Order: sequence, then structure tokens, then C-alpha cells
Amino acid sequence: MSLTGKHILSCDLFDRDMLEELFLLADLLQPVARGHRVCRVLEGAVLGSLFFEASTRTRLSFDSAFLRLGGAVSDTTGVTVTSITKGESLADTSRVVSGYFDVLVVRHPDEQAVHEIASATHVPVLNGGNGGGEHPTQALLDLYTLRSEFARMGKSLKGSRIALIGDLRHGRTVHSLLRLLSLYEGLSIVCVSPPSLPMPRELLDRAARCGHRIEETDNASVGLKDADVVYATRIQKERFTSTETAFDYSADFRVDGALVNGVCKPEVVIMHPLPRDSTAGANDLSNDLDQDVRLAIFRQTDAGIPTRMALFASVLGVAHQVGSSLRDADWYRPKYIGPNDAPFYSLQ
Ligand code: NCD
Repeated sequence: MSLTGKHILSCDLFDRDMLEELFLLADLLQPVARGHRVCRVLEGAVLGSLFFEASTRTRLSFDSAFLRLGGAVSDTTGVTVTSITKGESLADTSRVVSGYFDVLVVRHPDEQAVHEIASATHVPVLNGGNGGGEHPTQALLDLYTLRSEFARMGKSLKGSRIALIGDLRHGRTVHSLLRLLSLYEGLSIVCVSPPSLPMPRELLDRAARCGHRIEETDNASVGLKDADVVYATRIQKERFTSTETAFDYSADFRVDGALVNGVCKPEVVIMHPLPRDSTAGANDLSNDLDQDVRLAIFRQTDAGIPTRMALFASVLGVAHQVGSSLRDADWYRPKYIGPNDAPFYSLQ
């Protein structure tokens, strides 16, 4: 199925063929994302970026992807700066801004809002995170990262053990990721969370129906045992209802060097959608793994650019032009982006 003109609201849209096609395009765009080549297939196009909820990396990542394809970007952030505070409906806002832009990226704290916006426009809408629902572009970049980590090690996804740990109830990135992983074969997926913050049952049942081995545990040492991948998430306190607390989110859920070295496979890939909560007592992914080459978190954020470029080029129907439009870039880029980047991850 072609993605041209489509809204990207949920990972349910994708099948394996579409993912393969998208990731091949992302590979082609990788040198553009890394600043080695130039591609202007979106020259003249304008992105409307509507963020009704906090974001730094996702908004900037969408912006950078669009700009690097030669497009222009117009951003609005926060509900208070929009006409919604004057009582405007989402449908009206959607139709209005659709007259200004060629594609919209929307993040909203209400799960339904992005669907309301999409149903009021034929301009493609990309979901940049809808409450505790989904975050499809994050899951696409996570899967893209996972595939390249496994390819580098000569490992196949089939049969691997993937541990998702943290707030699996409110974390929209893991909801989308589990949907995509369900499209693959023979995975062992273990959900590690306190009993109060489990992965939604419907998503677990669906993955099980796809033939995956599903486990749930509140014991991190048990869940991460022999893991090929650990995907940690932040506790999403901002999504808690007034009666929810994180009373059972203890230090046992902290992913640190001792836990990883103690129980995971030696070549484990450690992932997190970021931001990680580095404040004392947050029990998120620890900083003591920062110099560990198995930590893929910044390879994930970097992968957001080619992945989102591939999506933009696809929904705007110019994917077929990418190959013939590439040319070399001449500006300076450092050999490594960050001081802790792995030796195998140089820009040159
Ligand atoms: C995530 C999100 O907003 O859902 N961040 C992101 O987009 N990379 C995860 C989070 O906020 O914990």
C-alpha cells in the first residue's frame, strides 16, 4: 500500500512490506541526515508543527527531517498560544491550518484529539504522540535502530528476547513499539513493570495471537535475564489520574550497570525513548551506562531523522525522487557527534 496522502496516526497502519520499504528509504536518506549529502525533494513544501504538549526532541526531530529535505517549517507550541483557548473546535483549527500547510505533525495530551484533527482534513497528519495512546514515529525509529543494531552484530530479530521495562501503562512509545514488534516472528517479549503500571491487556493478547512468547513480571532481574534488548521507559506521572500513585515503582526498576551486567546477554542493546529522568529517586535508566557502547539511546535519537524524512517523503509522494536528487554536501561535520559515541558510530 502506498503511504501517499495517508494520515500516520497508529502503528496499526503498517505491515511488514511497508516497513521494509520505509526503512530502505531511510537507509538512502541516512547520508542526508548525517550531513554528508543534500536532498531537496520537499523544496517549497511547508510543515505545520502543532504541539499542544511539551516536546523538545520530537518536535525538533520532525523539523530537522523536513528542513533537511528542503522544506520549511512553522511551529506552534502549547494550547495557550492557540485559538483553542477562545473556544475553537479542533475540527475548525484543523481545517484552517490545513489551508496553510502541506503536512501537519500533531502532539496532543488527549488521545482522541489527533483523530479529530485528522478527520477534518485531507492534508496528511502525523501523530507526534497522543496522550497515553501511541507514538508511531518513535516506534518506527526504535525499530529502525533495533534492526541496524542487530545487523551490525549479525543477529536476527527472530527468536530474540526483548524486555520492555518501566511505566508500560501510560508509556505511549511502548504501546506503538509492541504493535510493530507484533508484525515480526517468534519473539520473546517480556513486560517488566510494577503491578500498577502494566502493559494494556489488549496489546499483550494481540502479540500473543501473533505467536510471540509473552511474559509479565514485576521482577527486573527475572525479566531482563538473557535479554537481547532492554527498552526502558520513564514513569509518566503527568498521565496519572488523581487516584494513581507510583507507590510500587521501587529502585528495583532502575536499569543500571549492575543489573545489565548481572543478567542480560553480553551484547544486549539498551534503549530508551528519552527523556530519561535523571533526578534522584526517579529509578529510570541510570547514567552509569553512559560510556557503554551497548547504550543505543543517542543512536535512536539520530535515527529519528532518516526515519521521519522517509515518512515525509512517502506521505507527500516524492519517495521515488529521492535517489536521483542526492548530491554531496561540503560543510564541516565532526568525526563523532558526541564524546561518548561508540567507535563503530563515526560520521565518516
Ligand atoms: C516520549 C513521549 O513523549 O512519549 N518521548 C519522546 O517523544 N521521545 C517518552 C516520554 O516522554 O517519556
